[in-house]
Amino acid sequence: MTAYIDRVKNVRDYIALPLLYDHWYVAGLGEEFTHQPSAKTLLERSIVFYRTQSGELTALQNRCLHRSFPLAESTVVDDDIVCGYHGARYGPDGTIVRIPCQANTPNRALRTYPVHEIGPFVFIWMGDPASPDTDKLPDLPFLGDPGYRSMLGATDVAGSYLLMLENLNDLTHFAYLHRETFRFDHSFFDLPTTVEQRPEGIYCNRIDTDPRRATGALPPAIRERVRGRPAERWDGGMAVSPGVFQGYAPIIVGEPDTDDREVFETHIMHFLTPETATSAHYWWSVSNDFALDDDAFYAFMQGHLEKGFEEDRWAVDKMQRLLEVDTTPFKEMSVQGDKAGLLFRRRMVDWVNDEYGN
Ligand code: FES
Ligand SMILES: [Fe+2]
Repeated sequence: MTAYIDRVKNVRDYIALPLLYDHWYVAGLGEEFTHQPSAKTLLERSIVFYRTQSGELTALQNRCLHRSFPLAESTVVDDDIVCGYHGARYGPDGTIVRIPCQANTPNRALRTYPVHEIGPFVFIWMGDPASPDTDKLPDLPFLGDPGYRSMLGATDVAGSYLLMLENLNDLTHFAYLHRETFRFDHSFFDLPTTVEQRPEGIYCNRIDTDPRRATGALPPAIRERVRGRPAERWDGGMAVSPGVFQGYAPIIVGEPDTDDREVFETHIMHFLTPETATSAHYWWSVSNDFALDDDAFYAFMQGHLEKGFEEDRWAVDKMQRLLEVDTTPFKEMSVQGDKAGLLFRRRMVDWVNDEYGN
């Protein structure tokens, strides 16, 4: 195979990488989609979504084959969508069912997009609709598992999704950009860190073994119960696809290498879906397996996480604007903490070559 691209030399090359369609991305929360048609732009494709009477979600090209009227401005009749301009009627599989004023129907169809619901999220396959690769769907057993309680959030990013993914691969900003929210002190910079390329993604993790700091994110009642025991907290995760970062931040309490260990699970998912090359949809979920009925803790955490993730969104927005207005050629400086981010850039190049190479 001829490589489409060799490597990215700096952030400008990185955010200029072409969009990747042969992957699953989050299209939204399942509850957003009803029998009423609604449109979203994902990877520069306008897509109309609606549910059939049986609740099945349909995703079609949001563009009537006749004169490009947006089908989201149309009507769903039974399970079909009827164009609001001249009445062309399409089935949920995109085929033309009826054209007003003529007996025959052209042998054309709207493009369809396979969708797959996991827990509260809808995933969409942006590649060839005839061959969605279900092996590439992320494994998220905690979403929808009654043993976990999940907090969710959604926002839009006025910058490249790749800047946001780079932020997720970068642990060193925790103690600086998030110093007022997540309150990692500067000792966070010195924690033992693992960064490696794994077959399933780019893995990065830091482990804090200071029991006071490690248990700081637990609700007070649990913190009290585990006080005085050794504890460690992980902070990290894995970039598994161009649109999915799977964070994992368990707190492990108890003597190492014994059976007397309690694990408090926290799975932190980040889903980035480009809208265009310079804007993105962003969803996150944080799922814990502890304190499931502590509403006050979850209400506090929801606000806390929203504030923290908003800081990332803000930083990405500012960097994107700067890159757009200042075109001075420059040589980027990379530091030790960028290892995971640089590996991720390389993985992006591999995905680009998989899709665009020949
Ligand atoms: S634009 Fe849809 S039927 Fe004419
Ligand atoms: Fe962050």
